Amino acid sequence: MPETLRLVPDPAGIARAAALLARGALVAFPTETVYGLGGDARSDAAVAAIFAAKGRPAFNPLIVHVADAQAAAALAHLPPEAERLAAAFWPGPLTLVLPARAAAGLAPRVAAGLPSVALRVPAHPVARALLSAFGGPVAAPSANPSGRISPTRAGHVMAGLGGRIAAVLDGGACPVGLESTIVALAPGAPPVLLRPGGLPAERIEAVLGRPLGAPGAGPRPAAPGQLASHYAPAARLRLNAAEAGQGELRLGFGPGDSPDLNLSPAGDLEEAAANLFHLLHEADRRLPPGGVIAVAPLPETGLGRALNDRLRRAAAPRG
Ligand code: TXA
Ligand code: MG
Repeated sequence: MPETLRLVPDPAGIARAAALLARGALVAFPTETVYGLGGDARSDAAVAAIFAAKGRPAFNPLIVHVADAQAAAALAHLPPEAERLAAAFWPGPLTLVLPARAAAGLAPRVAAGLPSVALRVPAHPVARALLSAFGGPVAAPSANPSGRISPTRAGHVMAGLGGRIAAVLDGGACPVGLESTIVALAPGAPPVLLRPGGLPAERIEAVLGRPLGAPGAGPRPAAPGQLASHYAPAARLRLNAAEAGQGELRLGFGPGDSPDLNLSPAGDLEEAAANLFHLLHEADRRLPPGGVIAVAPLPETGLGRALNDRLRRAAAPRG
């Protein structure tokens, strides 16, 4: 494939991106969480190309992005609790795993053979403009090579996938910075938190009026992408580090800290979430091969749950 186009997300750029999607080509685009690697969710060839570009295992299904809850209802059955969550949080950083409708027209490998489908209505204006110009469902995993850190800027996408995809719409930095929160809803079963993310679980539980369950311990993970080692930078991570050891790069949090890089000088979890992936990319750039990032402890509340989840996966032994 020739060079990857970097498109300005003005009306001409959006139209060009939509035309590329309609031809079955892959276009990365910003969402409020992270950049997605988009392809026509109805095209088997486009979906296969997404798996190939990322080096993603075929068992790991993709999230389908749609314009609104009505478009979601054409692809899946929304039980009453799903309707409530959609009304409260869409558009926004929430993905719902729902029973798929037969004959919805999605390419079979989008859901990797599962009877469910993951749906999300993104809030980012560029994502919304693209969905509206394209006029159909867009399959989009995070726009990074499989197992690496998710991209929160167009430059991260270029560094990971440049030359392997048709284009990236450059919408600047993603405001939330962590992937969407994923909740599975099946009729008659309690709602399950499959992945903590950019929407704090407490807010979802407040709308549902009951706690979210944890994924069952089956032979394979309930969200197949939730492998222990994931979201990994090239460097190693040492977590809950009070200070940096010899030669380590320190990733700090809060005002009292004097780190090399600070997730949030103000000690604000939203700011830390928006900065996390960019600073991990930056730490990788600064460290020599085999370097270590010493990460300050973060609270385990609100967005801290998703931040700590990503950090634990980034620190996990690699397979
Ligand atoms: O914020 C986000 O969710 C971003 C933006 C681009 O929308 N996308 C994203 O996609 O993070 P990805 O592919 O990196 O993560 C999708 C996760 C994977 O862990 C996958 O296993 C899970 O969603 N998933 C997708 N479909 C599923 C299904 N039918 N059942 C259970 N888990 C599913
Ligand atoms: Mg991903």
